[in-house]
Amino acid sequence: MCGIVGYIGKREASPILLEGLKRLEYRGYDSAGVAVLKDDALTIKKHKGRVTDLAKNASAHGLSGMLGISHTRWATHGAVTEANAHPHVSHDGKIALVHNGVIENYLSIKKFLEGEGHTFASETDSEVFSNLIAYHYAKEPVDSPSRFLDSVRRTLSHIEGTYGIAVICTERPDELVGARKGSPLIVGIGADEYLLASDVSAIISRTSNVVYLNDGEIVSLKDGELNLLTSDEEIRTPEIQQIDWDIAESELGDYEHYMLKEIFDQPQALENAMRGRFSDDGSTAKFGGLNVSAQELRQVDRILLCACGTAWHACLVGEYLIERFARIPVEVEYASEFRYRNAPLDKNTLVLVISQSGETIDTLAALRESKRKGYKTLAINNSVGSTIARESDGGIYQHAGPEIGVASTKAFTSQLHILSMLALYLGRLRDMSYQDGINYVAALKQAPELVTETVKLNDEILEISKKYKDMSDCLFLGRQDMFPIALEGALKLKEISYIHAEGYPAAEMKHGPIALISAECPAIVLATQPDIHGKLLSNIQEVKARGAPVIAIANQSNPLPPELVDDQILIPDCHRAVLPVLASIPMQLLSYHIAKLRGCDVDKPRNLAKSVTVE
Ligand code: G6P
Repeated sequence: MCGIVGYIGKREASPILLEGLKRLEYRGYDSAGVAVLKDDALTIKKHKGRVTDLAKNASAHGLSGMLGISHTRWATHGAVTEANAHPHVSHDGKIALVHNGVIENYLSIKKFLEGEGHTFASETDSEVFSNLIAYHYAKEPVDSPSRFLDSVRRTLSHIEGTYGIAVICTERPDELVGARKGSPLIVGIGADEYLLASDVSAIISRTSNVVYLNDGEIVSLKDGELNLLTSDEEIRTPEIQQIDWDIAESELGDYEHYMLKEIFDQPQALENAMRGRFSDDGSTAKFGGLNVSAQELRQVDRILLCACGTAWHACLVGEYLIERFARIPVEVEYASEFRYRNAPLDKNTLVLVISQSGETIDTLAALRESKRKGYKTLAINNSVGSTIARESDGGIYQHAGPEIGVASTKAFTSQLHILSMLALYLGRLRDMSYQDGINYVAALKQAPELVTETVKLNDEILEISKKYKDMSDCLFLGRQDMFPIALEGALKLKEISYIHAEGYPAAEMKHGPIALISAECPAIVLATQPDIHGKLLSNIQEVKARGAPVIAIANQSNPLPPELVDDQILIPDCHRAVLPVLASIPMQLLSYHIAKLRGCDVDKPRNLAKSVTVE
């Protein structure tokens, strides 16, 4: 979490830094700050609150300088206060630093530095970082041209934990230093300028040429040159990559919120997920970047799916899809749990991680742990060049376009669609017939059109939302592949509207949650599967009998009897491979409208961040 941006070049730094920060706000938004250096004068502005307010303040204070660093914070150590906001300056005023990550040994370093006479103004671990750099800087030979860089280097060897940092020094007004370990950092190469940033969204308006830093690397940007040192302190020739991103994709356009825009982006995101990924005979899927041969995939006798948050719900759907269509046993793990368990894996296990950002620390750690144990690892990921994309053996890019709203929508359904395509591919390598493959592909190709039809329910769902916006509790019920969709529906509602919501397998409700059922606790029931329709009707009866309102999501061809439901949302009929995608859409729209009607900040819900780069 936290977003950082640094700038060195021939233009005023602060407008560029603030613009970059606005695009990184999804990483954290409780406070923000900027520091610029002109000659040896450091000017700092911090603000408790959003970047827009910082920007108003900053322009009033006329921050001037062509070198600077900035930060938008998601608090870990220390409360949300102006003192704890970054940048953090060393006690002697020479070093200013912004940090994304967590320093685990900061207390012992702080004790040591206090013994050396350093004083601290904040409760953060990051202030220890800037002070340790200042400590080493004071000890380096005064006339050494690499004095600043060496002091950062020495500091990093004492830091335990994770960091992406950008650092400036008042005595080096021509140098910007960055480093990463565990938290992302990229260098943008513009015209007469360099930028450092947590991800490409912050810099894409200025350049599409980037260099990705690897863990343990340090970069010095000075005199128009980029010098990169590896973790072994060797010079690395930077590999410049071209970002294929359209800045317009991250603009809000006519939408009021990114979440709504991204819900409506879904037909396009699904098209992108499928582009060029079907065989010429239209009977199976194909993926260019798997780096695992068909022969190797036929040997796989177990798949482990691993992720966090919404992506974990995608894994649960993937379990149903792969087991149903490819007949391979699947297990799903929370990445945060897997990394600390010593789960026995068979040598024919394939590990597949899913991550929109490609930077979630727990998912990355699970990936690394799997690799360490010798398993083949794949990733489904939406961020080209992200750490997870680079470290997995192979994978499938989502190409869903930037997702800015903190609540994931299009990235989720795109993951579901790719999992569905993967189930098809694996199924066709085993016992799925040619004709079933042909039907499956046709169904997948129809999905964007069906989603376009489903989002047209928007006005109807707004009206339903008005009836339920004041509820304080809500149950989401579904069976089989609709159970994870119920979980995701509950997560969506709670994260953006702050209504207590739980997802449950409909039949399991009798074993506990039924105690919550009352006229004040509506149930949203997914009744979309013909094979278990009768069973679901019984579950709905159980809810109705206890006086709770029922909102059903059902198929157009099979609506529920009106006496059983208070409200009903009918989605188009579709193949089972596409159903999880379609059924997700009413959930997204319900949460969106309810949150908006309650006056919540839909795109930036309290306490959350989109990219969780701390454990
Ligand atoms: C955070 C976000 C979720 C996301 C999860 C995993 O919690 O708020 O929307 O699903 O992280 O993120 P990833 O980028 O790994 O998919």
